[in-house]
Amino acid sequence: MELERTRVDVVQCAKTYADGTRGLQPTDLTVEPGEVLALLGPSGCGKTTLLRLIAGLESPDAGSRIAFGGTDVTQLPIERRGIGMVFQHYALFPQMTVAANIGYGLRIRGTDAAEERRVVGELVDLVRLNGLENKRPAELSGGQRQRVALARAVAVRPRVLLLDEPLTALDAKLKESLRDELAELLRRLHITAIHVTHDQQEALVIADRLAVMQAGRIVQVGDGETLYRTPAHPFVAAFLGRVNRLQRDEAARQRQVLPLGGIELPCPAACAADTVLLVRPEDIEVQLDYPGDEAWGRAEVTRRSFLGERVQLTLALTGQPPMQAEVPRDHPARQGQQVAIRIRPEHLMPSHGAS
Ligand SMILES: Nc1ncnc2c1ncn2[C@@H]1O[C@H](COP(=O)(O)OP(=O)(O)OP(=O)(O)O)[C@@H](O)[C@H]1O
Ligand SMILES: [Mg+2]
Repeated sequence: MELERTRVDVVQCAKTYADGTRGLQPTDLTVEPGEVLALLGPSGCGKTTLLRLIAGLESPDAGSRIAFGGTDVTQLPIERRGIGMVFQHYALFPQMTVAANIGYGLRIRGTDAAEERRVVGELVDLVRLNGLENKRPAELSGGQRQRVALARAVAVRPRVLLLDEPLTALDAKLKESLRDELAELLRRLHITAIHVTHDQQEALVIADRLAVMQAGRIVQVGDGETLYRTPAHPFVAAFLGRVNRLQRDEAARQRQVLPLGGIELPCPAACAADTVLLVRPEDIEVQLDYPGDEAWGRAEVTRRSFLGERVQLTLALTGQPPMQAEVPRDHPARQGQQVAIRIRPEHLMPSHGAS
């Protein structure tokens, strides 16, 4: 099925609800044609608000602009925007068969029966529901229901597909396999899609780019690897994984150094006095022998936690609050041991902002 690839532009778009709540601060966002973008952030940060504004289910504050393919749609009602939506609970029609659910949007648009059959047949193949066409939603697994919801949303050839936490209702194991399946389907459809989630793993697997939101704002947009490795804000760093926040006292700030277990590391070149320095647990190297080299500091392992594929070490050291390091599961460090630690300069992440 050939789908249009539409660019989405959100320009200075804001939403103040009737009770005065600012659901969304003035926001700019561009989704490229055929791109899958995830809106990622904690509960209440404004993900659904932004998605519903793009859908036309909410009207934005004056001065906001939304365009699809360069055409202003800000004043268009939902049914004229050409969007497909998939919700958390799928909202399938329980009394209708799989085929009737998928063809629903075509029928209400007056598509003739032969064309409906053709499109439904094509989608049933695409989402691999062959043989289940005459079942009803209650007779399907969670994953099959999700595929029906997706097929129904794309049957009308939307310009933009909007997904609001479509995996949240599922248990963890099923969620993981459906996440991979959904990622693959979206790639195959090659449709412009915006996927809302508060699960960073899900966002990383499904999306080409992520927009991380906090308190009604988009804090940073980028591909997963960039956000993970070079978060512009401590909130982004902590939301996309685990992170240690490094401390520098006033004297260390003046001298542009970072104390670390008896040594001083030079701060990155772009480090200002108010820059927060972060390091991921997996970027702290830990070994038993002290190399006698000024790149290595000293620490004590105060706790060793087995996590399955990795081991987490809690480290006590001078100059820093307790730090978490993650090492391979066969690492020899044990609780109570003195170890040598190193952070390579490229793993120190300078970050700005208060939280
Ligand atoms: N109809 C409404 N009236 C007033 N305030 C609202 C309304 N809908 C949402 N809000 C508020 O706007 C803010 C953003 O809500 P939104 O539903 O967009 O968050 P979310 O990121 O989707 O959260 P979740 O992950 O819990 O779904 C919240 O503070 C919420 O309480
Ligand atoms: Mg929501």
